[in-house]
Amino acid sequence: SQSPGPARIRHFLKDDDLSPAEQAEVLDLAEAMKKDRFGYRPFEGPRSVAVLFDKPSARTRVSFHTGIGELGGLPLVVDNVTALMGRGEPAKDLARVLDRQVAAIVWRTNGQELIEEMAAHARVPVVNALTDAYHPCQILADLQTVREHLGRTAGVTLAYTGDGANNMAHSYLLGGATAGMHVRVAAPDGYLPDQAVLDRAAAIAEGTGGSVSVVADPAAAAEGAHVLATDTWVSMGQSGKEERVAALMPYQVDAALVARAAPEAIVLHCLPAYRGYEITEDVLEGSRSVVWDQAENRLHAQKALLHWLVTRP
Ligand code: CP
Ligand code: NVA
Repeated sequence: SQSPGPARIRHFLKDDDLSPAEQAEVLDLAEAMKKDRFGYRPFEGPRSVAVLFDKPSARTRVSFHTGIGELGGLPLVVDNVTALMGRGEPAKDLARVLDRQVAAIVWRTNGQELIEEMAAHARVPVVNALTDAYHPCQILADLQTVREHLGRTAGVTLAYTGDGANNMAHSYLLGGATAGMHVRVAAPDGYLPDQAVLDRAAAIAEGTGGSVSVVADPAAAAEGAHVLATDTWVSMGQSGKEERVAALMPYQVDAALVARAAPEAIVLHCLPAYRGYEITEDVLEGSRSVVWDQAENRLHAQKALLHWLVTRP
């Protein structure tokens, strides 16, 4: 809703581009679409949807490709898009070439400012498939998974431990607050969330009955939590693995941390997972882990998001 660009077109560049009511609407639709997987055809024609990557991907690539096909459309999947299609062209030029031909643009790239530039000039919805700053499609899938396993998001406590400064941490803060969750981030100095994101999430939480907090102690964050979540310690494009591993090792999600959570707690990881680093093998493969449901829900949540974006009045 805050996104720039022509009137009425809505984009999904970060989690709070959907209001709490709109996020719930998309999640309800995702649930319905999971039950009736081939019953929704907004891209019948077929219309094309551009799915553009400047970083590697397995889940995002497969789920958008598959989902757009199931919605009756043609996925146009391009890797290394900036190099291959852009060749030094600004995003605003690519936006105006694409939007005359495709029904929506999905982009995984580096800087958030790039996708904002794309959205400012595109006359079709632009969807963030991960930037350095946010991974909002992943959080929709995570919220769908929480609803499936715990029956609700409002009032649920989610503890994220590890790199508090990455895209997943920022999206959990914004998307979780939007869903009325209590989001706790445990991270050490140097790996703390962006203050502006934290402030925005706190403001959203005031309206939804949720809350956000940042602590140094992972055990304190996990205490009684209904959801434990983590992510890689070295995101795509980052260097300094050794230093990052040393700083973040105390934040590993292991059996001892899971034991502090609520008895019914579930464990989330957006994948790819690095066993022995941010999560142990036994927890990832254990009975609390719902990571395969979570990965599947990328398909349903993104189909619902695209459907919602292109069929709005
Ligand atoms: N979780 C996720 O976005 O996976 P990919 O990087 O494989 O798309
Ligand atoms: N934080 C990770 C998420 C991967 C899906 C990264 O940006 O590499």
